[in-house]
Amino acid sequence: MKGPELSPRLRMVGELVPSGVRLADVGTDHAYLPAALILEGKIPFAVAADLRRGPLERARATVRAYGLTRSMAFRLCNGLSGIHPDEVDAVAIAGMGGETIAAILSAAPWVRERDVPLILQPMSSFPDLRKWLQANGFVIQEEQLAREGKNIYTALLVRAGEMEPLSPAELWAGRNRADPLRGAWLDRWLARTLRALEGMAQAQGKDVLSRKLELEEVRRGLADMKKEWEQWQA
Ligand SMILES: C[S@@+](CC[C@H](N)C(=O)[O-])C[C@H]1O[C@@H](n2cnc3c(N)ncnc32)[C@H](O)[C@@H]1O
Repeated sequence: MKGPELSPRLRMVGELVPSGVRLADVGTDHAYLPAALILEGKIPFAVAADLRRGPLERARATVRAYGLTRSMAFRLCNGLSGIHPDEVDAVAIAGMGGETIAAILSAAPWVRERDVPLILQPMSSFPDLRKWLQANGFVIQEEQLAREGKNIYTALLVRAGEMEPLSPAELWAGRNRADPLRGAWLDRWLARTLRALEGMAQAQGKDVLSRKLELEEVRRGLADMKKEWEQWQA
């Protein structure tokens, strides 16, 4: 049976999921991601978890519609709190703020102790999430970009390990790579940094000054990455 059509964002997340794993999909909502991966034969089993009843009911409806009741379990829980480490081999957390993702991982130290592959797709607070990963014994192995309408999304494949420290600009935009979408991704971050700097132009005070210096360093780093990316495209 053909599975649910995944949006480019969720397709990117699915591509980072290792084949053959039992997947925990945290914040599953409709459970489109695990349903599609099971129907494609990429994974054999998933635990679909959500904090709220409504989304979990939608997940159950998807699973019934595609006849997947034997291949999926459901958990009404906060983050990974209702999932036993022995039940899953990989964890996906997509469509949530970076700070929420960090809080979920922080409450489940077993994912680092067992070196569980993590597929993370933050929607905001990117520097906070990358900073947290760096400080808490994780390494970003791979980062992908996907365009959906006017938006560009990122997804990270993360494992336990030591990460070479990220520069301030890399905390915002990830490490540079030759991805064709990377130029537009860097432009967005550059525009955001410039807007923030313009917004602070008239502000005074010690804290403001140090924030301005930080942002200026980020802007320079982003501009350097953009130049490097352009050279790779030539
Ligand atoms: C925007 S939806 C994303 C759905 C799907 N993962 C995707 O990427 O399309 C976010 C979902 O995460 C759930 N959620 C938010 N915080 C959560 C938490 N701490 N633990 C589990 N689920 C959570 C929400 O209830 C909601 O269903």
